[in-house]
Amino acid sequence: MSISIDRDGDTKIEEKLMPALPSTRRRFLQYTSVASAAVLVPAISFANPQKPPSAEKTRDAEEISPAEDLMREHGVLNRILLIYDHHLHMLTTKQTFDGSVLVRAADIVRHFVEEYHEKLEEDFLFPRFRKAGKLVNLVDTLLAQHKAGRTLTAKIRELAGVATLKYVSDTDKLADALRAFLHMYRPHEAREDTVLFPAFRSIVSPHEYYALGDDFEKKEDELFGDEGFFKVVDQVAELEKKLGIYDLAQFTPK
Ligand SMILES: [Fe+2]
Ligand SMILES: [Fe+2]
Repeated sequence: MSISIDRDGDTKIEEKLMPALPSTRRRFLQYTSVASAAVLVPAISFANPQKPPSAEKTRDAEEISPAEDLMREHGVLNRILLIYDHHLHMLTTKQTFDGSVLVRAADIVRHFVEEYHEKLEEDFLFPRFRKAGKLVNLVDTLLAQHKAGRTLTAKIRELAGVATLKYVSDTDKLADALRAFLHMYRPHEAREDTVLFPAFRSIVSPHEYYALGDDFEKKEDELFGDEGFFKVVDQVAELEKKLGIYDLAQFTPK
């Protein structure tokens, strides 16, 4: 085993130790091995052992499994559900608001949730469950809900984009669409988090599982830019700030 230190002061274990593993798994083992090496070989001097990792560095070093990737995308969806909740409250209490925030939220649902996150589920998870003959009824329901969600998003996007929401019928239609979306997606994502994703690990090999994690990340960066997930999180935070629901402490009971 050879240990080297690169220009950034990071320690690396010689690659040939794990040639057959995909990069996510390999890197996980590298970090684990580095931690072990630090214990076993205290005489190794690191370039700057006191240096705290910067935010960018932490993000660069992050390698996540498919389940964690999909679950943190559900975190983005949950934050958009809060934005939808807030608009539903404004509609039902007859408050006027700027529809552009809701338009942008619906666009994030369309591009990030429907065209990316749900597409991953449909292309990489659902077919494997069908092939394994497992959770097939659940997969059928989840797929039907993806389709229903797309119809609701189109409606929300269209109604939110109308310059004025003075017409009561439009306001009611928008409120109904938001309510239906919220009603469906909370149980939908909770079922995926607690049943589908945990079961996914048992129907693919460890090699395939970690290789998919890499594929998901590559696709995310292709569609949303380098570190695309964090860019989308920042966009959602921006919308929360505009609505005054960004400060987390406001949700703590007094
Ligand atoms: Fe889904
Ligand atoms: Fe999902």
